[in-house]
Amino acid sequence: MPSISNTALWLRRPGAAFRVGPAPRTPAGPGEVVVRVRAVAVNPVDGSPGVAYRLVFPWLTFPAVIGSDVAGEVVEVGAGVTRLRTGDRVVGHAVGVERDRNRAAEGAFQHYCVLLAHMVSPIPDELSFAQAAVLPLALSTAATGLFQADHLGLPLPTAEPPERGETVLVWGGSTSVGMNAIQLARAAGYRVVATASPHNFDRLRALGAAEVADYHGRDAAGRVIAAIGDSPLAGVLAIGAGSLPRCLAVAAGVPGRRRVASAQPAIVIRLGLLGRRRRGVTVSGIWGGTLKGNEVGPGIYADYLPAALAAERFRAVPEAMVVGVGLDRIPVALDRLRRGVCAQKIVVTL
Ligand SMILES: NC(=O)c1ccc[n+]([C@@H]2O[C@H](COP(=O)([O-])OP(=O)(O)OC[C@H]3O[C@@H](n4cnc5c(N)ncnc54)[C@H](OP(=O)(O)O)[C@@H]3O)[C@@H](O)[C@H]2O)c1
Repeated sequence: MPSISNTALWLRRPGAAFRVGPAPRTPAGPGEVVVRVRAVAVNPVDGSPGVAYRLVFPWLTFPAVIGSDVAGEVVEVGAGVTRLRTGDRVVGHAVGVERDRNRAAEGAFQHYCVLLAHMVSPIPDELSFAQAAVLPLALSTAATGLFQADHLGLPLPTAEPPERGETVLVWGGSTSVGMNAIQLARAAGYRVVATASPHNFDRLRALGAAEVADYHGRDAAGRVIAAIGDSPLAGVLAIGAGSLPRCLAVAAGVPGRRRVASAQPAIVIRLGLLGRRRRGVTVSGIWGGTLKGNEVGPGIYADYLPAALAAERFRAVPEAMVVGVGLDRIPVALDRLRRGVCAQKIVVTL
């Protein structure tokens, strides 16, 4: 392997300031690729204060390199990888913070990142690295909730899905997770009802939502029930603060499957269910990295996404907001994310 130096954005301990510094250049193991990272996106969990890191990632060893969303070029291919070649432009979900990986070499925030090959998709030439980087964690979270057997367990998306005559509710449709979920649910053959603020209605219709309802106000669940109408429910993705109780009300108030998969942290779900009547509704908590260990990961990143992006059947959304160049701009990006975004994903190019 050529001796190329690597640089990473290190987190020395939970809650410490990030520091740019030298890092090992780890070779690709079997089933892995090394990617020269050209763009990363930031997610709410990346900017968590120290106590939240301890709660969300109690296993994480420090110093750590975190980050999930990578776009770049493949520079090395590990044994057994036949689908990807050096020079390929790709997007991938970096899983270094996952319990069974816990490896700085697999964090997104560095120049050379090790990725699991089955969590990597080639991207078309027309798609910039910055725009591709908006996808991974949001896409993975949506796919986990929709397709994993312990959540909604729906059939995986395909190029020409049958119309299934059932509805998926995406509560929080204008989040990054929600915009991916709308497109995936359509590609799996479902009618989609979503929620958003009115200024995002047209955006979600353009992604394939049949109906969009405003989630603000006490009568939001009633509006969503009316939008679902007689079409049987295939399941609900509950995304965003306050979504769970209202999704429970909807799932109990329409015909079909009473299953809700929530993207909120497990502790928030537990508290949200305390003392609440569930009326036969099953609730599960999504962890957006679990798909790497089952058929959903390769079903999305290997089988579905490459052709769907190339044919423009799937769009890399929301819009990338590039806030700078270089690893040292990632803390700035996290500060910007804490102030909130609307239908945008904050990206740093490297
Ligand atoms: N479990 C996991 O593994 C996992 C992974 C990734 C993200 N998440 C969680 O998923 C959620 C979405 O994350 P994201 O990065 O996709 O969000 P995001 O892109 O930052 O979402 C921003 C949009 O959310 C909408 N919104 C704000 N408050 C809302 C609420 N209370 N209910 C519904 N929508 C609301 C707003 O849309 P309007 O302007 O239309 O109101 C806003 O434009 C977060 O809670 C995040 O922590 C979980």
